[in-house]
Amino acid sequence: MAELIVTGGRRLEGSVRIPRSKNSVLPILAAALLCEGESRICDVPCLSDVDTSLALLNAVGACACREGTDVLVCASNQMKPSVPDSLSGAMRSSVYYIVPLLYRCGEAHISFPGGCRIGARPINLHIEGLRAMGAEIETHPNTIICRAPKGLHGANFCLSFPSVGATETLMMAAAFAKGRTVLCGCAKEPEITDLARFLRRCGARIQGAGGTCMTIDGVERLKAVAHTPIPDRITAATVLFGVAACGGDVTLTGVRYSHLNAVLHTLSAMGAELCRPEPGVLRIQMEKRPDAAFVTTGVYPEFPTDAGPLFAAAALQATGESMIRETIFENRFACAAEFCRLGAEAHVQNSRLYINGISGLKGGLLASQDLRGGAALVIAALAAQGKSRITGTEYIARGYEDIAQLFGRIGAELYWEK
Ligand code: EPZ
Repeated sequence: MAELIVTGGRRLEGSVRIPRSKNSVLPILAAALLCEGESRICDVPCLSDVDTSLALLNAVGACACREGTDVLVCASNQMKPSVPDSLSGAMRSSVYYIVPLLYRCGEAHISFPGGCRIGARPINLHIEGLRAMGAEIETHPNTIICRAPKGLHGANFCLSFPSVGATETLMMAAAFAKGRTVLCGCAKEPEITDLARFLRRCGARIQGAGGTCMTIDGVERLKAVAHTPIPDRITAATVLFGVAACGGDVTLTGVRYSHLNAVLHTLSAMGAELCRPEPGVLRIQMEKRPDAAFVTTGVYPEFPTDAGPLFAAAALQATGESMIRETIFENRFACAAEFCRLGAEAHVQNSRLYINGISGLKGGLLASQDLRGGAALVIAALAAQGKSRITGTEYIARGYEDIAQLFGRIGAELYWEK
């Protein structure tokens, strides 16, 4: 995979359009298998996790391809219940295919999903919920075998943690289960609401999405539709914290402010000037070193865990001591050791990242170890003086179409080197 060569120390200026949300697109691509006919998911970013999803869809017998910037998905009547290990292990989102394969084939064989190594990331909540709805599930060291020969039935199920993925799995299952399902303890992320919007447009009967409790009445059939996913709030946060770190004046278009409240609150606390000249447009100006800030991540609408490393990168040169407490994943700050290679003063203790802001980070050799940590290294390198080389960029490509272009179009100097 190509490496990123970054020359830091430049202000960021200009305008950038925020792409559609990776974490909305991925579950919707799986949910499209529940529909009769050809679904069209519009304006889908070119991400390696999307490529992996297309490969997975075709491997199980569906027809999935890109048409321009859209993705077309159509289930077939020759669907296969097994997901190749190479694909299920390549991303966390392979877990979303358990339910569509149960629906199409009466069974699903899948190895444990992959994904960024930011924690243990079990799928016990997915399994417990599906069992409550009548699925027979055997878990083996590397594979999960699910069966539902008579289909699924409605259930009352309470998630012990508002897991985004488990909520999405159980929404898809309840959409066609026989009878009513009441899900409590649901995740409330915007991507949940977007999946519900897609399923309702396909004919599902879902109430309460975006809240902690959902009521879903199963239906016989869902029909394919065209759907445009929500904007990617974490890509927006990436650009925003990049400006906070480097200074500058950047306008973001195609954003949804309401998805960014906690991020915008933190940016204001760091001294960024934010304004909303018109709907969907957000301008950020940063004319000084950021002020130190304290952040605690949490489930939506709290500060998003995925933006934690991005905030940390901006705090490396803040005036004073910053701290971010991670409450979702056990290993969110693998990037901290890499920050120190730029001269930053950062250390992790009990899932808290402590940062003593300094001025004068110097470029260096950095290794990405996960998606958002990799994006944080790009931000830190853009703020540092001199050149940096970033390896492990395959992690970054999972969630950003072309991070060099994303920052390059607002004045940053960085390029890919094969
Ligand atoms: C989704 O992951 C996102 N991925 C993640 O984004 C995001 O960080 C995460 O939600 C939290 O917002 C996608 O949507 C594809 P969870 P997911 O299930 O569904 C525990 C990115 O960078 N848990 O809400 O895997 C789990 O261990 C990625 O775009 C269980 O214990 O997250 C974690 O501690 C990274 N049992 C917590 O819940 C389960 O069955 C949150 O996980 C499921 C989860």
